[in-house]
Amino acid sequence: MSIAYDSRTQAFHLKNARVSYIFRLAGGKYPIHVYWGRRVRNITDELIERRTAWTDETFSLNEASLDYLPQECPTFAVDMREGMIHLVHENGTSALLPEYVSHEVVDGKPSLGELPGARGEGAQTLLLRLRDAVSGVVIELCYTVYEDVDVIARSARIVNGGKTPVTVEKALSACVDFDGSDMNLTTLNGAWARERHLYTRPLVPGHQGTASVRGASSVQTSPFMMLTGRDTTETAGDAFGFALCYSGNFEASVYVDQHAVARAQIGIHPFNFSWRLAPGEAFQTPEAYLAYSAGGIGGMSRQFHTLIHRHITTGKYARAARPILINNWEATYFNFDEAKLLDLARAAVRADIDLLVLDDGWFGHRDRDNSSLGDWVDDTRKLPDGLAGLSEKIHALGLKFGLWVEPEMVSPDSDLYRAHPDWCIHAPGYPRVEMRNQLVLDLSRAEVRDHVVGMITDALRRGHVDYVKWDMNRFITMWGSAALPAGRQKELGHRYILGVYDMMRRITQAFPDVLFESCAGGGGRFDLGMLCFMPQTWCSDDTDAWMRCKIQHATSLVFPPSAMGAHVSAVPNHQTGRSTPLSTRAAVAMSGTYGYELDLTKLPDEEIEAIRAFNAKVRAVQPLLLYGTYHRLRSAFEGNDAAWMSVSEDRREAVVTHVYGQAVPNTKDGLLRLTGLDPDLTYRDAQTGKTYGGDELMYYGLRLKAPWGDYMSQQWHLVAEA
Ligand code: DGJ
Repeated sequence: MSIAYDSRTQAFHLKNARVSYIFRLAGGKYPIHVYWGRRVRNITDELIERRTAWTDETFSLNEASLDYLPQECPTFAVDMREGMIHLVHENGTSALLPEYVSHEVVDGKPSLGELPGARGEGAQTLLLRLRDAVSGVVIELCYTVYEDVDVIARSARIVNGGKTPVTVEKALSACVDFDGSDMNLTTLNGAWARERHLYTRPLVPGHQGTASVRGASSVQTSPFMMLTGRDTTETAGDAFGFALCYSGNFEASVYVDQHAVARAQIGIHPFNFSWRLAPGEAFQTPEAYLAYSAGGIGGMSRQFHTLIHRHITTGKYARAARPILINNWEATYFNFDEAKLLDLARAAVRADIDLLVLDDGWFGHRDRDNSSLGDWVDDTRKLPDGLAGLSEKIHALGLKFGLWVEPEMVSPDSDLYRAHPDWCIHAPGYPRVEMRNQLVLDLSRAEVRDHVVGMITDALRRGHVDYVKWDMNRFITMWGSAALPAGRQKELGHRYILGVYDMMRRITQAFPDVLFESCAGGGGRFDLGMLCFMPQTWCSDDTDAWMRCKIQHATSLVFPPSAMGAHVSAVPNHQTGRSTPLSTRAAVAMSGTYGYELDLTKLPDEEIEAIRAFNAKVRAVQPLLLYGTYHRLRSAFEGNDAAWMSVSEDRREAVVTHVYGQAVPNTKDGLLRLTGLDPDLTYRDAQTGKTYGGDELMYYGLRLKAPWGDYMSQQWHLVAEA
């Protein structure tokens, strides 16, 4: 891994053993993108000139306008395509011409201040300083290259080095101008209970992409996009992934210009955003991760998974086995009391489960979703001995205890709201629009955050919790903060997210032994920002096994199984009405952080026995399932089956899962080709004892039994013979 600067060509070459990222300075001043892809030793002058159609001697702003050049940090002033940074000076004008001043290469990766980001072990960072001579504004572009993962981390810092205030109106994190637009764009889109479905289309001239202005990354979309060559497959070809380490409004877009340059950008959404910078102040953008693989879409995903495991997730559970849990939500919804919970806990003990999570409804007087958020005091009608008493009884049964909280919200029917009606986000004079009967706390305010952190910390302490589910069940509308001056109201979206991160930092640090799972009305805030604090995220309220084959497939484009909360639930499924076999529900949930979400007390003994067996299997193979090398084999988006596998680093062990959709009569047994194994090894299936060559499994395939019944699954645990 290295970052080299060639003063003759004024080119920066960031590379590791597999990937190169190159840009140079046009006219000695403007950073111009040259190349990102498979590692090259060098790019000769002749090729650089062909791409950028000028030489240093002939470069002039007037004649070789930046509008024609591929740029690293376009500002709208001399480039009329979508820009990366835009700001307004005190006199109302908005021209900006940042020019190269200096650069520096540092070991590791500088901190992003209040924002979360990847760690920089074994990395090197290039800091490139550009300055606008008229205003004194400095833009510091930050590029980190890793030895062990093919990801470039990019962010920008805007410093007002002038004498008068400026207002930043657009501050994206990264821009890459691709040479040619003959590519496909993939984004993840959906809805509640249908999160992260795959959408792929060819690039067309103009603007395209995905975005959220809901105040959160959202169930409708994800802060991610992928560009692939037209021939790229799961296993071969160029795949370029862009993911943002941010949990609020974002934009991931491609603008295809008049010369078929595809400008890919990602960052905070500019809509309803601005940030005022007094002289000397700075604005830091979130970090974007640019992952490249020549080994297809699967190769790109594995770069993100490696980044997450080695540089993003943190704390006791980052690489550890996760407890097998039972969550009472789909078992009881709001209709529970201590006796019912203890019945569930006793059934959990019989089923060999590790941890019971008490979900929504344990506080205030919350019998349905219309009250008490913000009042994190025990409801002694349901829990006569409070959280402390319940937790003690659960622990006495030998189970761990987990708790649901929704710290960012307030119910209009709550003591908190009655005491502080101005503590919620609202626009004076407009209705305080409720969603799920709740309002959003104004977490840009330190006193609000301090209050919430105090209440939540107390609850977690008195409940002696081992696990926390941090939920967030509505988006933000009618933006306004009672604490911000008029000129700073458009800072609220970003200040809110910084407030969320501040609370998460304080609470997770106060409980280093607790496992935290983030959640947002299903999978509505599944992003890298959350993963910096909590190693797992609830994937979707849709627990139907067949739907999960799709949701987990698309989620795995960026996120590894260790990040995906997945539970076995009851049939007929509460979201789809579909019945799937228990073994299939277990096989699908095993490819995430495993748990249950059903009334165990209603299950017959045979099913409790089956659950005990699944749990034993999960315990045996969980490190491999969560942290192994993940390969998607078949996609439920494309056909009537789904398959995936996880392989150990030394390729001596693998777990393969295959799920059929609806049974089709009179079909022959199929074949499933595996990948990622060692062709020279012989593998034994731990269940059947049958042996297979690694070459046979990869080139011929595993035999799939023709299904008898809908949604049947098969799983193989392959272990190499000595
Ligand atoms: C939404 C979550 O996704 C569910 O799992 C559950 O926790 C409910 N909220 C509780 O209100």
